[in-house]
Amino acid sequence: GRVAVLYGGNSAERDVSLKSGAAVLAALERSGVDVTGYDPADGGLVGLEALAPDRVFIALHGRGGEDGTLQGALELLGIPYTGSGVLASALGMDKQRTKLVWQALGLPTPESLMLSSDTDWDDIVVQLGLPLIVKPVHEGSTLGITIVDSRETLEAAYREAARFDARVMAERFIQGEEYTVALLGDRVLPAIRVEVPSGFYDYEAKYLSNDTRYHLPCGLDGGQETLLGELCRQAFEAVGGEGWGRVDVMQDAEGRFWLIEVNTSPGMTDHSLVPQAAAHAGIGFDELVLQILRGTLE
Ligand code: DAL
Ligand code: MG
Repeated sequence: GRVAVLYGGNSAERDVSLKSGAAVLAALERSGVDVTGYDPADGGLVGLEALAPDRVFIALHGRGGEDGTLQGALELLGIPYTGSGVLASALGMDKQRTKLVWQALGLPTPESLMLSSDTDWDDIVVQLGLPLIVKPVHEGSTLGITIVDSRETLEAAYREAARFDARVMAERFIQGEEYTVALLGDRVLPAIRVEVPSGFYDYEAKYLSNDTRYHLPCGLDGGQETLLGELCRQAFEAVGGEGWGRVDVMQDAEGRFWLIEVNTSPGMTDHSLVPQAAAHAGIGFDELVLQILRGTLE
């Protein structure tokens, strides 16, 4: 039957999604799948229903695509789709409530507090220490995120994040190494260590810069990497994640891992992490896309 790749959309990550979707579409065409691309920002749900695909590959990121709303609509239309269901998608898009679930299960994640325009900034600094990190609760691709080094710049960081989201959080900043782990079906793919010369893996470093370095193998010894992979698998299962996804983790100077966030519809651009991890595990891009698509039938 016919597969529709959903990409574009209305979120702040539209440009990333256009690239992810184009790559997925091309891969499925190479594999001889009967496939068409569809941008819900243009035709909405009505257009999708008219298209009547047998299955949907979700290559949308952020709100309206990764956050459970689209997943709910597809459930109602009776169209199988890739990746996580309604609950895990919605929860994964909420970085703060994801942390509450992890904490309840005893999984390590840095302490965080919600911010508002009448927050006592001094109190935040006392509780979380400096530097700390300010982020919109529902954003992806590091949009609106600032690392705050001083009490004086905290309020400006809050205002920047508030441009993206009505809910803004501050999180204790873990100084150390950044890792990411992709989950594909039952498999935990090899961890990647991300090294950014500028010091912060922001939007620029993610999609525009050629200086960002991806270490594969990640450099952890076998035992540590297994531990990290197991932690990420638990973190993904804790939110009810299905099919495929990616968990971002920091490691502090003492070697402890801290869960940062889960991505239920990770980037699939040529700079993206899941395709790199899959390639290292011997799964080429086209095969990766087919495996994700097959997950809709399970
Ligand atoms: N939010 C971006 C697309 C990612 O997680 O890869
Ligand atoms: Mg994210």
